[in-house]
Amino acid sequence: MKKSIAILSFVALVVVAYSCKKNGSTPAKTAYLDLPATPYPYFDSFNVNMNRMATLGRVLFYDGHLSLNNTISCASCHKQALGFADNAALSAGFEGKLTKRNTPTIADVRMKQTFFWDGRENNIENLTIRPITSHVEMGISDPTTLPQKLAALPYYSSLFADAFGDGEITTERISTAVAAFMNAISSGQSRLDMFQSGNTGALTAQELQGKSLFDTKYDCGSCHNGGGVIVFGGYGGGRGSIFLDIGLENTYNDKGHGVITGRAADNGTFTVPNLHNVALTAPYMHDGRYKTLSEVIDHYSHGIIKTPNLDPILTDGAGHARRMNITDEEKQAIIAFLNSLTDHHLITDPKFSNPFKSR
Ligand code: HEC
Ligand code: HEC
Repeated sequence: MKKSIAILSFVALVVVAYSCKKNGSTPAKTAYLDLPATPYPYFDSFNVNMNRMATLGRVLFYDGHLSLNNTISCASCHKQALGFADNAALSAGFEGKLTKRNTPTIADVRMKQTFFWDGRENNIENLTIRPITSHVEMGISDPTTLPQKLAALPYYSSLFADAFGDGEITTERISTAVAAFMNAISSGQSRLDMFQSGNTGALTAQELQGKSLFDTKYDCGSCHNGGGVIVFGGYGGGRGSIFLDIGLENTYNDKGHGVITGRAADNGTFTVPNLHNVALTAPYMHDGRYKTLSEVIDHYSHGIIKTPNLDPILTDGAGHARRMNITDEEKQAIIAFLNSLTDHHLITDPKFSNPFKSR
């Protein structure tokens, strides 16, 4: 009798273990995390390994244990509802200290070749360790201690095993997985995207007027349009460089790309930001100086300063700062156009959302 109960419970255990393995989840994982049995199709439904990798990356992205005092995750500053940016001029890190610059969106990073406002990184996988070790952002000064810290949590060994074939946790694997998740976050379902893929009815008359002002009359697109196709950041359009000075301040409180190259001609130049979801990513510019899109347009309209490295397109030809004198009606049209760049799908898609169960 006793023996048959033992055999029965053994069989039951095997069945439980097997069914957990089959759908890639373990009791430890499901206790903390709300993950689908079959990984979300981050890349496509056949690319199961990459999808598992991105699933692990999602958990890491939302996990406060990646910071020294377990309070700050990547998502504390890169918030899905805000187009993966932050709504503060400068963001607060693990000890409440503020970042030096405004938090940019991380959507569409896979389209970029250099990262950060000043371009100091060009490898997305190397980049991941930077916020973790930053003494302002997450504070884990020695990243080699992180694998051990994560191994002590009940949910990671099976997630790493799903993604890499075995449960070993290394800093390289952490970076690879977070990069996979970030590479999956791309905006392609805004109304401008629909319009550009052939749905001519996707934009209203006012938005079309704004698009024309943006592309043609005020040359915004000569910096902001990547390859003339769509408004991605980090291209600089036809400007030759992707780091440009738009005449914000003469003193260059922040030398931007000049800090990296040491060249005076690069002082005050910053990467051209991604305008996808720009309506959600306020405040604006590398230092978050403008609270609204209206203030941004006012800058281009009549606020440009003749700085030493001001981009020629923002001068009047005689060496002075250009005065666009954008009318109120035009301003409303440009703002309407910028609003058509919001991808509502991206900001509500469960596969990019916080996977931790609230407890
Ligand atoms: C305390 C706020 C904060 C946290 C936490 C944070 N970031 Fe950031 N992130 C920023 C700021 C600020 C910048 C811009 C820094 C700069 O350009 O000098 C940035 C820039 C980036 C960029 C570059 C985007 C681009 O277009 O160039 C990526 C990618 C990124 N962060 C990913 C991450 C990841 C991954 C994590 C978690 C491991 C993370 N961040 C945690 C604030 C934060
Ligand atoms: C000479 C190139 C250039 C031109 C022309 C230009 N921009 Fe920009 N734009 C930039 C750069 C570079 C930044 C970032 C500057 C910084 O933060 O120091 C920027 C920032 C912005 C931002 C803030 C984005 C954010 O996330 O912070 C908006 C919005 C914007 N531009 C819209 C426009 C509009 C509208 C026009 C036309 C009226 C225009 N731009 C013309 C290069 C340009």
